[in-house]
Amino acid sequence: MLKRKRLDEISWEAYKSLSLEEQAPYLVQSNGRPYHVLIAQQFDRESLDNLCDLATRIRKIAKSKSGMGFLSDLLAHKRAMLYFHQPSSRTFLSFYAACQILGIGLAEVRDPSISSEQKGETMEDSVRTFSSYFDMIIMRTPIQGFVDKMAWMLSNTDRPLPIINAGSGADQHPTQALLDIYTLQRSFEKTGGLENKHIVFCGDLKRGRTVRSLARLLTFYPNIKQTFAAPDNLQIGDDILEQLRKAGVEYEVTNNFKSTIPNADAIYMTRIQDEWDKTPGETNRLAADAYSFTGADLEKLPRNSIIMHPLPRRNEIDTACDSDSRAVYWRQMRNGMWIRCALIATVFGRDTAINNYYTLNLK
Ligand code: NCD
Repeated sequence: MLKRKRLDEISWEAYKSLSLEEQAPYLVQSNGRPYHVLIAQQFDRESLDNLCDLATRIRKIAKSKSGMGFLSDLLAHKRAMLYFHQPSSRTFLSFYAACQILGIGLAEVRDPSISSEQKGETMEDSVRTFSSYFDMIIMRTPIQGFVDKMAWMLSNTDRPLPIINAGSGADQHPTQALLDIYTLQRSFEKTGGLENKHIVFCGDLKRGRTVRSLARLLTFYPNIKQTFAAPDNLQIGDDILEQLRKAGVEYEVTNNFKSTIPNADAIYMTRIQDEWDKTPGETNRLAADAYSFTGADLEKLPRNSIIMHPLPRRNEIDTACDSDSRAVYWRQMRNGMWIRCALIATVFGRDTAINNYYTLNLK
C-alpha cells in the first residue's frame, strides 16, 4: 500500500517535476484508497485485484431488483460532474451509467461553446466553479497534464474533491486500462489467469493513450510478454519501454503484426489517432492492411486467444470477426461500466459495504 503524501503540501512546479511513480503517493487517501485517479502508475497488483473482485460483485448484485436498490442507495448523497472536452461515447456513457447504478446525481458539460468558457472564462475557473456544486469531477481533455493540474488546484482549495481522468491528451487513460485488465482477467479465468500471457498491441501506439496506460498495468502480472506492432513513426514511446525495462518485463517491438498472431494470447487493436495529425490525412495511409485484423486472420489466431479494442474502430478490425467468440470488444465495453462502478465506490469508501452485502446475500 502506498503511503500517502499530501498534494496541499507541495507546489505545482515541484509536483509536476516528479516522476509518475513519485506522483502516485499524492493521489491516495490516508486509508490507502485512491482519491484522484490520474495515472496508471498509482495502481498496484493488490488494488487491481480488489477493483476487479468488487466489479464482479457489483455485477452480480445488480442482477436483482433488491440488489439494484441497495447499490442505488450507496451514494445517493453524492453528485458528479462529467466534463468532457473531447468526443466520447463509451467512456462518457459508462461513467454515466456507473454513477446512476450507485445513485449519484449527474450533470455534464460536453460542449464548451454553451458554458461560460465562451465568455472567456478559463478552464481552470470552470473546474473551480464545478467544484462548488459537485463531489467528484470526471474529466476528459485533449491537454496533457491539465487534469493533473486541476487535481492539484482543487486539493489546494477549501473544498477539495476527487478528479477522475477519463482520458488526457495522447498520454493517459487509466480507467480504460482498468477495464482492459478486468476484461483480460475475465477472459483468461479458465485458462490459467493473466499471468504468463503474450499481449500484442497493434496500431497507433505512439498516440494511443489506452495502450500507454495498459502497458504499465500489465507489468504487475508475472511473466507477461508485451509485443508492440506498429509502423516506425507510430511505434510505442521510449518512456513506456523504459518502464518495461525497469520492471524487468519481456517485450518486442516489430513492424510485422501478422507474424505475431499465431503466438498471441490477446491482440489489442487500436485506431489511428489522426486527430493529432499536423496535416490532415498524414497518418491514415499507415492504417493499411498490414495493421488490421481480418476475417482470414481468425484462422491463425489460437483457439483460446482473444481480440480486444478500446473502440471506436474504423477498419482495423473486419466486422466479419464480430461474431467470433474470441472477439471480446463488446464485452470489454460493458466491463467498463462495472469497473468504473467499482472505482467510484472505492474512491467514496463504499467498497466495504458492497463486499459485506455480497457476503451476506450472494455468497
Ligand atoms: C479511446 C480514447 O478515447 O482514447 N476510446 C475510448 O475511450 N474507449 C480510444 C480511441 O479513441 O481510439
